[in-house]
Parts: sequence; structure tokens; C-alpha cells
Amino acid sequence: MKFNVTTIFPDLITSYCNESILRRGQEAGAISVNAINLRDYTEDKHNTVDDTPYGGGPGMVMKVEPIQKALSENKWKKGEKKKRVVLLSPRGRQFDQRVAEEWSDLEEITFICGRYEGVDQRVADHLVDEEVSIGPYVLAGGELGALVMIEAVSRLVPGVLGNAESIVEETHAENIKSEYPQYTKPADVNGWAVPEILLSGDHAKIAEWRKEQSV
Ligand code: ADE
Repeated sequence: MKFNVTTIFPDLITSYCNESILRRGQEAGAISVNAINLRDYTEDKHNTVDDTPYGGGPGMVMKVEPIQKALSENKWKKGEKKKRVVLLSPRGRQFDQRVAEEWSDLEEITFICGRYEGVDQRVADHLVDEEVSIGPYVLAGGELGALVMIEAVSRLVPGVLGNAESIVEETHAENIKSEYPQYTKPADVNGWAVPEILLSGDHAKIAEWRKEQSV
């Protein structure tokens, strides 16, 4: 699975993706993360990516042309089979585990991260497959959202998680809140004891207890 991220802060993306499971996933060749700097696709000497809004009002709006140029020079376009171009926006469809599962079969996802007060509407209207939000709140930009989605999708890509079981046993979209509580050593911390049954060695009883706990 290939992830592309167009952003004015590519280092935010690469530094996060170069640690932990995303690093291992890249080293294993299961995923790749390609962050590109939108300013590299501007043509003026100030590398301008934003401008004032038509109709007035506060703040700046991200321009269409640098985004269009970044997409076309990299041959990322909407409407392709097995690929998606996604605009990060608080107005988009809400990302959840179901979307992560749907996307985990794709070959390539290109994220466009907005900044400032918004992105010229013509990007959403003409250049992307869909607008997606990570939740009902407004962030300063799309970068955290892109990282959230990259991580949630990558965990579902074969070869990213070391132990295949950790996907199978846990959360699917339907039962995302149904994991059983986990404990590790020591058995007593400040008088907070681990449930007796987990120390019993009775695997059938433990399995039954976990099932009860996860309903
Ligand atoms: N950009 C700003 N807020 C956002 C959100 N909630 N989801 C995705 N992108 C955003």
C-alpha cells in the first residue's frame, strides 16, 4: 500500500511514520509513505500556497493551482480503480474502522492536507474522490488526520503488524468496543489486584471470563 501526502509540513508526516509500526511496515515493504511539499509546486518566488478569500472575511484560503500541479505531476488523479485521492476536511465523511477496512484493499491513497482557514472549494469539487474528516472538531490542518488514517489503514495491511493474530483477535468494525481488559505483571500494584481468574491457569475459564467481559 502506497500513501502519498501533499502538505506544507512534510517533516511532520515523515517523522511520525519513521517510528514504530509504520517504520517496520515500510522496512518490510508492506507500505510506503511519500510526503511531498506543496510549496515545491508553486511558481512564484515566495512559494505562495494561499490567498485571501473572494467575498472577504478573515484568514487565508489554499489555492487550487499548487494542489492541481502536485497531483498532475505525480500522476495522482481521482476516479482510478484501487486508488483514492482524499481531501482532509472537517466537513468530510467521518473516518472510522469501517473506512479503514474498506481502504486496506487499495493500492494507493493520496491525502491532501489543508491548512489556514480552508481550501478553495474547487479542489473538493474537481480534484478528489472524497472529503474525509477524522472527527467533529476543527484542527489547524489535515496532517494529524492523514497520520491517523495512515496508521489505522496500515495496521490492516498484511505484513505491517508482526503478529497476524493481533488483528484477528481484536476489533472489527462491528465490535470495536468489545475488547476484554488486559493486565500484565505485577499481580498487585498499590493494592490494585489483577482478577484472580487470570492467575488460575484454567484456560477454558479464562476464555469464558474474557468473553463475558467483552460483551
Ligand atoms: N482539518 C481540520 N480539521 C479536520 C478534521 N477534523 N478532520 C480532517 N481534516 C481536518
